[in-house]
Amino acid sequence: MSQPRVNPTLKVLVVAASLREGSLNHKLANRAARACQDYGAKVDLATIGDFAVPLYDGDLETAHGIPAGAEDMKRRLVASDAFLIASPEYNGSMPGTIKNLIDWTSRFRPQPFDGRHGLLLSASPSLAGGNRGLWALRVPLEHLGARIYPDMFSLAMAHKAFAGDEIADPALRARFVTNVQAFLSLAEAAKHYPCMKRAWVEFLGEPPGGEVDRVDPMDPVASPPGAAGPSSAA
Ligand code: FNR
Repeated sequence: MSQPRVNPTLKVLVVAASLREGSLNHKLANRAARACQDYGAKVDLATIGDFAVPLYDGDLETAHGIPAGAEDMKRRLVASDAFLIASPEYNGSMPGTIKNLIDWTSRFRPQPFDGRHGLLLSASPSLAGGNRGLWALRVPLEHLGARIYPDMFSLAMAHKAFAGDEIADPALRARFVTNVQAFLSLAEAAKHYPCMKRAWVEFLGEPPGGEVDRVDPMDPVASPPGAAGPSSAA
């Protein structure tokens, strides 16, 4: 019997969010890319070094616009149905480099993270595997309307966890592959079976208005005017 696979038109952007040569998160991103391909998806593999941007500065943006590195990030995001980020944890949070890239990329309209499905991964020599950093990374991405998959995978003691390019422990490897496949199945359902989509509503804590809007209006197909939301169905 053939293995279940996603529709081969599903395209995912995989970003390794470390600049370091020999990065453990590059290794995990590469392994994730392979898991995606094995499951039938097309992969665009990137590192954060592909998206060089200066520190965000509103004056720089006014004078010169959004830099080319963020333009590339937007282009590759928009060309993909979903994204994976493998990020280190720095001091219990996300590295400033990835937050800075998210900030620049969020300046485009339509805002490219909005409605896009994302899976977060981390690798660290620590016993927690950099998992706290992923909770921090969720915040700006969810704020921007990205649908971040609830299960995040963090590879603990990552400096010892690989045998070559493979996660050495079979049980851990199986859990990793299952996590990636479950995410891809959801991204596939959102792309190919939109009737199964549910509206995700996020309250940004601000009154609506052009000055503060960072999230695009909801897809009118997913939520026709006058449609009852889940809360009013009770
Ligand atoms: C770290 N590291 C780290 N690890 C961790 O699990 N929790 C942490 O809070 C931190 N903090 C931290 C701060 C700074 C400034 C550095 C440079 C490093 C260690 C980090 O996980 C380790 O260097 C990884 O190998 C970095 O990921 P890459 O570059 O290997 O992908």
